[in-house]
This record gives sequence, C-alpha cells and structure tokens, in this order.
Amino acid sequence: MSKESPHKPDPAQQAAKLRDEIRHHEHLYYVLDAPEISDAEFDALMNDLKRLEAAHPELVTPDSPTQRVGGKPAEGFRKVRHSRPMLSLDNTYSAEELAGWDRRVRELAGDLPVAYMAELKLDGLSVALHYTPGAEGSARLATGITRGDGQTGEDVTSNIRTIRSVPLSIPAERLKKAGLPQGFEVRGEAILPLAAFQAANEEREEQGLEPAVNPRNFAAGTLRTLEPSIVATRKLVFFAYFLLVEGEYLAAGQAATLDALSAAGFRVNPHRRRMHSLDEMLRFIEEAEAGREELGYEIDGVVFKVDAHATQLRLGYTGRAPRWAIAYKFTAKSGLTQVKEITVQVGRTGKLTPVAELEPVFIGGTTVSRATLHNAGFIERLGLRLGDWVKVERGGDVIPKVVEVIEDGEHPRGNRGFSFPLDCPECGSRVVRAEGEADWRCVNAGCPAKLRESLLHFGARGVMNIEGLGDAVVEQLMEKRLVKSVADLYRLDGKALLSLEKQVTRKNKTTGLGETKTESLLGPKGTATLLKQIEDSKRAGLSRVLMGLGIRFVGERTAELLAQEFGSIDALMAATAEELERVEEVGPRISEAILEFFAQPANRALVESLKRAGVEMTAEKKPRTAQLAGLTFVLTGTLPTMTRDEAKQRIEAAGGKTAGSVSKKTSYVVAGEEAGSKLDKARELKIPILDENGLLALLEGASGDKPAE
Ligand code: IVH
Repeated sequence: MSKESPHKPDPAQQAAKLRDEIRHHEHLYYVLDAPEISDAEFDALMNDLKRLEAAHPELVTPDSPTQRVGGKPAEGFRKVRHSRPMLSLDNTYSAEELAGWDRRVRELAGDLPVAYMAELKLDGLSVALHYTPGAEGSARLATGITRGDGQTGEDVTSNIRTIRSVPLSIPAERLKKAGLPQGFEVRGEAILPLAAFQAANEEREEQGLEPAVNPRNFAAGTLRTLEPSIVATRKLVFFAYFLLVEGEYLAAGQAATLDALSAAGFRVNPHRRRMHSLDEMLRFIEEAEAGREELGYEIDGVVFKVDAHATQLRLGYTGRAPRWAIAYKFTAKSGLTQVKEITVQVGRTGKLTPVAELEPVFIGGTTVSRATLHNAGFIERLGLRLGDWVKVERGGDVIPKVVEVIEDGEHPRGNRGFSFPLDCPECGSRVVRAEGEADWRCVNAGCPAKLRESLLHFGARGVMNIEGLGDAVVEQLMEKRLVKSVADLYRLDGKALLSLEKQVTRKNKTTGLGETKTESLLGPKGTATLLKQIEDSKRAGLSRVLMGLGIRFVGERTAELLAQEFGSIDALMAATAEELERVEEVGPRISEAILEFFAQPANRALVESLKRAGVEMTAEKKPRTAQLAGLTFVLTGTLPTMTRDEAKQRIEAAGGKTAGSVSKKTSYVVAGEEAGSKLDKARELKIPILDENGLLALLEGASGDKPAE
C-alpha cells in the first residue's frame, strides 16, 4: 500500500516538513489562539504524518507532534529536586495593604528603579519545564515537574507532553529570536479552561462519579494521573511566567522575560502591563475583576512583580516568598439570595434535576438567577424550603450551586416545603427511582424532553459535531414532527430544513410600528451548512456514535476504549458482560448499562436505522504491538541513572532492538557521559541522538514505565 514511487520526495524530508508545518499550526492554535486552518485541515496534516511515521518507524523522533501521548500508564512518579525552590506569594486583600507593600518596596529599593509588571493570578498549579539541547541547535523538552512542596516535585513529563501549548521542541531560529540558549527552565501555570472542566465533569457525572469541585483541583488531579492518554483528553493549557537560565532569572527583568518566552513560542498571558504607580495597579485590578468572566478560565487575583532584576535582588526573599512580588486576591464568589421556586428539568436519560429559581443576585461579575440542586436527596440534606435564604457559590463551574441554607435568625426561613413531582413535568408520565439511586427518572421512551436532549447531545461538539443543531432547530424539528429519533436527522433534506421558521419583529419604516413576520430559520446558506455537517457526521467514527447514543456511563474515554476493543457496533452488541469487562475501566456497572441499552428493541432499531442511513459504525482496532517495534538503538557512554543492561532490557521490553555498532539502519543512538566513536559516527550519519531523558520519554511513550526511584 505504501509503496514509494521514485518521484515522491524523500520520506525523511517529508516528515520534517510536515512536523514543521504542524508545529507552526499548533503554535498558532494553542499559543496564539489565532488558527489559520480548520480543525479538519489540521487533523489531515497530523494524519499524513502519522501515516508516514507508521510506514517509516525509524523516522519517529521523540519531539514529533505525534508523540505527545504516550502509551501505557506509569506506576508512579519520580521525585525531583527543583533547581531552585518554587516559592509562593504573599497575599493582600485590599488597596490599603497593597499601598503598604508598594511603600515598603520603594523604601527597600532605595535608588534602584521601581516599575511593576502586573499579571493575572491564574488559578491552576505551577510546573517547571526543563529544556535541554536538541538536534540542530534546537531546545527539547526534557522534563516537566510539579511544584510539590516547593523544594521537591514530581516528574510528570509524560503528562506535560500532552499539553499542546507546551512546545516539545523549539527550533534554533526561535531560540535566537528570543535570545535563549538551548538549555533553560520555564515556570508557569497549568490550568484547565472552564469549558474543558465542564466537559470533563459532565463525563464524570455520566460515569456516576462525583463531579470535581473546581478546575484547579481537576487540573492537579489530572497532572498526577498515571495515564497520559487521559491527560491528553483533558485539554490543559500552560501559561509561562518565569524563565531561568542556569538557575538565574533574566537580567533584563520580568517584562522582557515574558516577551522572550512569547518569542520562544510559549503561551504567555496577554493580560499583562508594565506600570509605575499604585493608581495604575488599582486600575489593573479593577479591569481584571471586570473582565474575569470573559476569560474562559479561572483567576483568583492579580500578581505584581518588581520588573527590574537588580531591584528584585536588592529586595530579596522572606521565608517562602519573594519580597519583590505580591498577590492581590479577589474575594470569594458567593452571595446570599432567596429561593423563589424550584423547577424540575428532564435530561436526555430521563433524569429529573431540580433547579432553584432565585431572586437575582450579582456574584463575581454576573447575575445569577438559577442554581442546580442536583437531586431530591440534596434538597433533603439542605433542609431547603421555598422562600429560604441560601448561600450561592459560583466556583469554576459556570453553573452556580446552592451550598447552604442561611439560619442566622436575621434571614426569615421559608415556609413552603417542596415535594418532588410524581409525574414527569414534560410528558406527564410517572417517574421512578431505582433502589439505591439518588435520581428520579422519567421512563417514557417517547418523552419529548428526552428526544430534545438526545438530539442536542448527539449533535454536540465532541460528539457528532453537528454544530448547526442548536436549540431553535431542534425545537422546530420536533414541532414539525420531522424527527422522532436521532436517526431521522439523516433523512432531512433541503426542503425540510427550509421549512423551519422563526418569528422576526421589525419596525415598519412608514408606519413606525413593529411587524411580526415569519422567516426561514436557517436560510439557504444555513441549510446547506447543516446538511453538510449532518453528512460529515456519518464519518465521525464508532466511538463518537457510541457517545452519541447516550448509553449511561459511556463518556468520551469509555467510548474510545470500547470502539478500539470491539472495532464495530455489531461486535459490541454481541459482547457478553465478561467480554465487556475485559476493557480497561469497564466494570460491572458500565457493562450492565451497555447490556441493558442494547437489550431494548427500540435501541437496536435505532442502531439499525443509523446504519441504514450510512453512519459508519466501525473503528480501526489498534494493534497491541509495542511502539518501539522496528526501531534499533545503539547505546554508548554511561547514562546518569540507568545501567546499560537496564536500558537494553527496557528497549527490548518495549519491542525495540539494540545493536552494538552504528549504521544507517540505526534509528537512535543513546549517548551518555564519555560517549566515544559511536557518537561521532551517529553525527556523521545524521542519526538522532538521545540522552537518558530522551530515551525515557520514548519509553514512557511506548510502554509501562517504571518509576526510576
Ligand atoms: S509567580 C516566586 N505569577 O500563585 C513567585 N505565580 O500563590 C511565585 N500563580 O505557586 C510565582 N499566576 O502557582 C506567579 N502570574 C503568576 C501566577 C502565579 C498564578 C500561582 C502559582 C504560585 C501561586 C502563589
């Protein structure tokens, strides 16, 4: 299949070109937030590279964009001492305290200049990235370490590598532009954007797990996950804010450091400003607080850092924090308000969720008028009555939560109890609650709420990606009885979609009166787009379809594992509980849900209709062969922690081969201290050279990695 015609360019050159191109677009997308090509075009480039690398495994380099996600989980993390302690910041909570700090800084600075760099205080966790010399004058990500206790952190390199805004390698030209050597350390914050947090939490809920409380905890847990492929699905983002070269900060100061980091290809938070006075600092705080909601990620304050390095040195450190920096923390985002009513929403699975309708209250920059109450048990535990005053919190989750009922004697208690409805608020059918479950459900298969939510879920981003299938379209499709199941989407034609309507009110120019008219909801252009999205969704693949079906507990990750294991919907539908449970992460609860789903004739019929509509329901089964298969390594010199035998054993365990001498067939030379002629030969033949860390990265990517200590 992959026969090279003599006219085809050299695969090595092709791979290098694709890598450069992909790195360029990754930088545009993940660092600058300014993509120039569509996701599909990007995926196509990535697939080209994957195909090329699969055909020529010897061309795979550890810093290739395809090598972000490693294979198997690690068993633990190696402890690593930081090059210099990762300190924390002293906090201030008021303008007065900040003024006091500014005064002290100026006193201590004496005749040295005092300018500040203002940055956002990102609510994530700090990590240190170590770059070491790579091929052709580049810098290569060697290790990524968590903050830990500030002195010692954990080596989470294989997880850090999955963060797309972390460059795996930085080419020589970029280093030059940034004025950086090939070896340096970057420190910054790994955060989980709110959208990614919500998506991950929805998946947890689907799997019957407790949702995580906030994005920071989730990000922290994620970075310490032993399975890099899970980390890769979580979409963490890294913002760089410090640079150490040989353990020292840049003499040019903080503002210049951030510019250099940005020039080197790191994501640096754009909300930053150099300033000279307390007034400017207070203005920055105000702006940050006002713009907080639009960021898409959580911040818990603002950080001010003395800009000039010489001034920083004079100010020095107290215990665990620098005197030259300070955090101004925002106050917690909660508010008190009254519960006016409790309404009940019906979800895709028929789950009934009670929602508190609140007297509108301003919390952390937005007006909150509704908050989730989770389930009947939650209302009972709160002891909530209609009319009660409650404390409402807005955590990382955009959905506000009622956290407690206020019983302080100053706020009158409500006087109406709430009883959970016995009938579905959407279709009037009886609701049921299974033994030991917290949730009431509507079990009417024809409940319109379920169909509505199923359609919205099916089309959602990350599921079948039918973006045009929004609330209004779904509502009209149901009202006009054009769809009775998700499979009917594939029967829609232009005529049907053009028949969807909306009401528009416009002012008549002559009479000055408002006139309500009925117009096409989508118009010809919107119709064409939606039809194309529906058509494209047929090729979304088995795992997306599995997610789309809305089987309980089957979220993105489980769907992917199932698709990989079974390869087709037919094989999955024929699987026994035992076979299902052979899949990683599938226990009795999930297998039961899957069996129950496919036992229902209506669901089997749905699968059949989808198939008939041309929706692809197969997946490529991933071969379970080791990833170093086909690669030959030559070891030379003394490695810092591994003996040569150990290295050999681990390469072979991952399917690779080792050889005694370097030739054109050698894929990598692993060189340690006092490497001799083999290293020269490797250079001569332009064979990629790895140090121990490079080998470890490759091994971690290829097989289960033992903690090195
Ligand atoms: S400077 C020595 N800059 O806040 C100075 N920290 O409370 C320490 N953080 O551990 C770090 N955004 O995790 C700095 N722009 C920023 C930050 C930031 C968030 C976190 C960081 C640090 C904690 C200290």
